[in-house]
Amino acid sequence: MNTVMTLPEKVPYHLAVIMDGNGRWARSRGLPRLAGHRAGVENLRRILRACTEFGIKILTIYAFSTENWGRPEAEVRGLMNILETVIDRELKQLHANGVQLRHIGELDGLSEMLQGKVSKAVDLTRNNDQLILNVAFNYGGRQDLLQAFRRIVDDGIPSDQIDERLIDYYLYTAGQPDPDLVVRTGGEMRLSNFLLWQASYAEYYSTPTYWPDFDREELLKAIAQFGQRERRFGLVLQS
Ligand code: IPE
Ligand code: IPE
Ligand code: MG
Repeated sequence: MNTVMTLPEKVPYHLAVIMDGNGRWARSRGLPRLAGHRAGVENLRRILRACTEFGIKILTIYAFSTENWGRPEAEVRGLMNILETVIDRELKQLHANGVQLRHIGELDGLSEMLQGKVSKAVDLTRNNDQLILNVAFNYGGRQDLLQAFRRIVDDGIPSDQIDERLIDYYLYTAGQPDPDLVVRTGGEMRLSNFLLWQASYAEYYSTPTYWPDFDREELLKAIAQFGQRERRFGLVLQS
């Protein structure tokens, strides 16, 4: 196998990942979809380690979209349970590793117990500075914009004071730089309502590899490709 051994020179500061393909991964093994989601969590541990190793400072993961509520009830319940178990089992280690956990999305809709656990995890890790892990759970890009606009209106901000910086400030990702690279596993070529505002100039990388199989080497491939992209931001670059 052709493995990339040297660490990449150019690494995204903020990496966002659409962790897709868990269900297909499970189906291809004759397993129930939830087994795929559990394998996905295992993989997250690997990818977190790799991100720290490569010097990525912000990792945003898409774990549950506002549209995912429409899945069969048992799967939704299973995904809620998985989030709860992950917090119970991993929080201590994440905290010890200096990970600052943040939740992006709406807490409303989650059980009170889960809301409490998420808030406690966010609180506990708020001063950590090795890596920011934004967990997009019950997140939608449109919902993100909608809640921002609502709060802007509630705060009585006059329209002539609304600019892009102000909107940034009201989004769930307030205070963080935009993602440099969006990686999607599972092969689809769409954003599925992820970071619509924030990813407007992110580089996009899609791989057919299902999320549970997306390992350190696969991440290196994505980063290597990112390193070769010319980000023009609409300008004409001098050659
Ligand atoms: C992504 O995997 C995880 C969530 C959306 C929660 P999927 O569950 O969408 O897996 P596929 O796309 O059906 O294979
Ligand atoms: C996007 O995957 C959401 C997450 C990875 C959490 P989906 O599987 O829900 O997206 P679609 O249905 O393929 O657009
Ligand atoms: Mg999917």
